[in-house]
Amino acid sequence: MKIKSVILAAGQGTRMKSQLPKVLHPLLGKPMLQYALDVVQGITQDMPVVVLGHGAGAIRQAFTDQADFVIQEPQLGTGHALQQAEALLAGQADLILVTYGDMPLFTTQTIDGLVQAQKTHAGPVTMLTMFAEHARGFGRVVRDEQGWVKTIVEEAQATPQQLAIHELNVGVYCFQANWLWGALRRIPISPKGEYYLTDLIEIASSAGLSVQAQVLEDGREGIGINTRIHLAEAEAVLRERINRNWMLAGVTIIDPQRTYIEPNVLIGQDTVIWPDTYLQSNSKIGSECILGPNTIIRKSQIGARCKICASVVEGAQVEDEVEMGPYVHLRKGAHLGQGVHLGNFGEVKNSYLGPGTKMGHFSYIGDAQIGAGVNIGAGTITCNFDGEKKNVTEIGAQVFLGSDTMLVAPVKLGEGAHTGAGAVVTKDIPPYTLAVGIPARPIRKLEKRE
Ligand code: UD1
Ligand code: CA
Repeated sequence: MKIKSVILAAGQGTRMKSQLPKVLHPLLGKPMLQYALDVVQGITQDMPVVVLGHGAGAIRQAFTDQADFVIQEPQLGTGHALQQAEALLAGQADLILVTYGDMPLFTTQTIDGLVQAQKTHAGPVTMLTMFAEHARGFGRVVRDEQGWVKTIVEEAQATPQQLAIHELNVGVYCFQANWLWGALRRIPISPKGEYYLTDLIEIASSAGLSVQAQVLEDGREGIGINTRIHLAEAEAVLRERINRNWMLAGVTIIDPQRTYIEPNVLIGQDTVIWPDTYLQSNSKIGSECILGPNTIIRKSQIGARCKICASVVEGAQVEDEVEMGPYVHLRKGAHLGQGVHLGNFGEVKNSYLGPGTKMGHFSYIGDAQIGAGVNIGAGTITCNFDGEKKNVTEIGAQVFLGSDTMLVAPVKLGEGAHTGAGAVVTKDIPPYTLAVGIPARPIRKLEKRE
């Protein structure tokens, strides 16, 4: 059976009180609409059709390759919204799956269950429902004596008895395509001048066609986002799911409620994560690391057995057995070789530090290539910016930089070179040479050590 999907996302999202279209608000770093797209992409290979209205330009731009778009203008309700997809989809599929762009918590498994249920159902539609104490404005599901759904009553139109019904319309449907397009034209206009998609249910049942309901097992999947309060609730659910999965996969999370791991992050076994740690933007963490507390890692790769405490790591590559923190900032292009040690208050940008190099206290390294086994004394600074351009510092293996060395780039220090405390290095230093002073000058050749 051929399945096509439609995601409704034309609503204004007024209650978000935002300049940003509602479905572009991120949850754990991913825009809301992406979650809906991911789910339907897990069910059918065919491009979903997204119905847009408010903020159409920005949304279309953000998801160009992932969907076909139709515009609903003006927005005359959910039934009218689905009708806009007819031109693209009529005659193209056996089943039409309909979901919303502002419900990010469905699992592919749940929605696939709905589609599978409709495949074997004789009637024209299977819909998702859920039971909840608080209705949150959702439509109530009225069933007949046989248990088929008879009608959906919107909260505004419901009688007191109907308001007391705890079964709610989630808003996800799987329709027989050849029935759907004709039935959409029979939706009556509401007193508010809208066409309610939910009226299709009564159109089916009153024609003697059965409407099947699939009940959500975990009602939290049905959280829809209308306000920023819902946004925070939904993000908490996503976070809990992700953290549970990592714990089941062998990662220790000391306090899951205070650990923020985005989807698409990877973490190796036996890594331990302390509270207030954020793992973001496709970062990859090796096994047996100790991360946090108070650590942000984004767009970075971390090797195995690293220890990172109270630090910010962005766009960096860190090899095995590196230790850093507290208060290290790795910026774009920082690359730390195996066993590098960075102590407190260090910043590294666009630089390579070779294996075993140590930088214990208060240093800035930018645009530098540093060999293995280098000792970077306390307070060492690469003066990489001359007011116009960034210049490169090159430091050979086994170099020893005295405390408070200033490296005025471009400058090159040969293997095994030493600087005295407070040296301001403006000229290259040959290998195995000690240079001291301001500006630093060579004063002695050094013996090459093994
Ligand atoms: C709708 C259902 C309600 C259900 C609830 C679940 C109808 C009439 N009611 O109510 O039974 O319990 O969802 O969440 O369908 N949209 C458009 N164009 C429009 C109007 C809406 O694309 O003209 C989109 C919105 O962007 C949103 C979705 O459809 O993604 C639902 O719209 P919303 O206004 O939130 O529907 P509800 O009134 O909450
Ligand atoms: Ca809504």
